Amino acid sequence: MIHLRQSRSSIIFSESDETLSILHWGKKIGDLNAAAEKALAVATQKPHFHGGLDVAPRNLILREHSRGFIGHPALRGHRNGVAASNHFKLKSASQKDQSMVALFHDEIAELEITLTYTLTPSDVLLIDASVKNLGTTDYFLEHFLYWLPLAEQADELLDFYGHWTKERQPQRREIGYGLTSREGFEGRSGHDYTITQVALNHSTNFRSGEAWSLAMAWSGNNIHHVERLIDGSKAIGAGEYLLPGEVILKPGESYEAPRAIASFSDQGLDGITSNHYDWIRSRSNHITKVRPRPLTLNMWEAVYFNHSFEGIKKIVDKAAEIGVERVVLDDGWFGSRRTDNKGLGDWVVSKDVWPDGLQPIIKYINDKGIEFGLWFEGEMVNADSDLYRAHPDWILQEPGRIPVEGRWQQVLDLTKEGAYNHVLNQVDAVLSENNIAYIKWDHNRHLSDPISDGRAVVRKQTQAIYRLFDELKRRHPGLEIESCASGGGRVDLGMIEHADRFWTSDQNDALERQQIQRWTGLVIPPEFLGTHVGPTVGHQMHRTHNISFRVINALFGHAGIEWNVTEASDEEIATLKSYVAFYKKNRDLLHSGDVVRSDVLVGNAQMYGTVAKDKKRAIFSYMQLTSADNFGPLVATFEGLDSKTTYTFKVVEELSSQDFLQKSHPGWWPSVAMTGEQLANIGLQLPVLKPESGLLFEIVAS
Ligand code: DGJ
Repeated sequence: MIHLRQSRSSIIFSESDETLSILHWGKKIGDLNAAAEKALAVATQKPHFHGGLDVAPRNLILREHSRGFIGHPALRGHRNGVAASNHFKLKSASQKDQSMVALFHDEIAELEITLTYTLTPSDVLLIDASVKNLGTTDYFLEHFLYWLPLAEQADELLDFYGHWTKERQPQRREIGYGLTSREGFEGRSGHDYTITQVALNHSTNFRSGEAWSLAMAWSGNNIHHVERLIDGSKAIGAGEYLLPGEVILKPGESYEAPRAIASFSDQGLDGITSNHYDWIRSRSNHITKVRPRPLTLNMWEAVYFNHSFEGIKKIVDKAAEIGVERVVLDDGWFGSRRTDNKGLGDWVVSKDVWPDGLQPIIKYINDKGIEFGLWFEGEMVNADSDLYRAHPDWILQEPGRIPVEGRWQQVLDLTKEGAYNHVLNQVDAVLSENNIAYIKWDHNRHLSDPISDGRAVVRKQTQAIYRLFDELKRRHPGLEIESCASGGGRVDLGMIEHADRFWTSDQNDALERQQIQRWTGLVIPPEFLGTHVGPTVGHQMHRTHNISFRVINALFGHAGIEWNVTEASDEEIATLKSYVAFYKKNRDLLHSGDVVRSDVLVGNAQMYGTVAKDKKRAIFSYMQLTSADNFGPLVATFEGLDSKTTYTFKVVEELSSQDFLQKSHPGWWPSVAMTGEQLANIGLQLPVLKPESGLLFEIVAS
């Protein structure tokens, strides 16, 4: 047996009949001696059931039907119609530290599979696979899926759906018999992407219970499954969705599957979040290791296509007064791009709007001590552009058919060297000529016809954008890239290796954003998630929110502003200044702490907290979403703190709501000293808030 384990989880592989199965994935198990291994092997052996084959069902890693497995196999493919069945034999399985590498060989299908499992110290399980063609003919790969067994008590599934301005909405349902699938073939992860899938017990909530998650570290087409079989087994699976003919392995060639990211928690969904955050933050290239996340003002909603030196200067003046650290010029600075149906693909500064180039405005911004960022959408082209006129052959398309447009654009075929180099070199030239710290990279339509010279190429197109980002960063050390796709359409665990920030959603309405941020943050830490304060009357929902609600919402991410701040009232400017100052003072904690999402709230509210690793400080927000169910004061408990420590608990009054539905404040207001134990188990009476208003709390060990 091979046993990988870390502080809270274990995965145990057992070898028999020349193959490997997973005997346990879940709670940490102690040392296994020879006697324990023997006992476990028989303890977990299922009976042969009536009507089935004469073999006992097992959680085979490769799930071959030829071994009696009745569900979805890990591998599917053929050699022009033959060699479609598989029977892999384990050649070797070796453990080094908390990693296991297994090599399998199928003599008849002439294939070799290498699988690597690494259980990181943060209890995140990284799985990599490669499939090699050892034969003398082409092997048509249909899919390779990673599968992990689920414990019996995993009886519900949590996954995510969404659309533009409403990404990553949760759906939780019972795991029924058969296959429950989420498949994405947008050619990007997409707004409707299930950023991870979580199997959990019906009693699991944020703070307690068991949960098993599996996600793909991939920004292209994807599959996520949960399967419950009639033999009593349940499993969670994921992989890259391959289009027909997308991967045909020539003799000797290999398919390197995108990585899968799994995690087990016995501390509820917050445990899944902590595992992911700890793992992501432990990577040597993690962005907060380079520098604190600068407070960013993005110009899109401030000016849209209405670019002018004078207009932008005025916004920059106000931004400087507020304390903004980075200003980003969005769409509209290049080619003939004065509206969204023209100019995409021509990455040359427009003389119409920037007659002296971008240098004067960049200098103006830099002179105020602010960095400059610029928007691109390099994978796309408008038909009305110089690029398309010169190279109509550079778009992804089925030969002989022009794809339907999305926002008047087509997708550039980055698998073609000419197109790739065009984008790389034009973007590189703009970055070389100007002082640009950061680029916002958009992707506004999905890939309806991802075909290059007749062959499906989502995989290659995805690899091309990763390569392009990496190359731009190599050429421009220190450059940061934001992954945006019509809002949050390319937020995934693959892109974290190539980009430094996600535009979480085009939804800047604080009420809607509460939900989007809460669930995106399940696996992506807040320092990656762009969260901006929008205008007084929101541009998406046309709802009016007070400035306090908007800033508290935007604080818990990579904070910023998406607003023409010259239109802000004096009161709003004063609050923005406090927001920026609070963010700068506390971003080290906001971007390193453990997340606490309360399950114990009376009323239609959400609580979100960040507790420092040493538990000396914490910041919590309490957001009243709709009106409370009862009119009395609400009780809120604050978990995750050190039970014995006494804390000074205080309302951050300059950012919190000033407007309540009550005659007097609760007795403790605005500050009280309590122990972690008291805060977690007795809690505090909160004031009665109006719907769509919030409170911010600072908790410091005294
Ligand atoms: C979609 C993005 O999500 C917006 O933030 C903005 O950059 C526009 N595209 C620009 O066209």
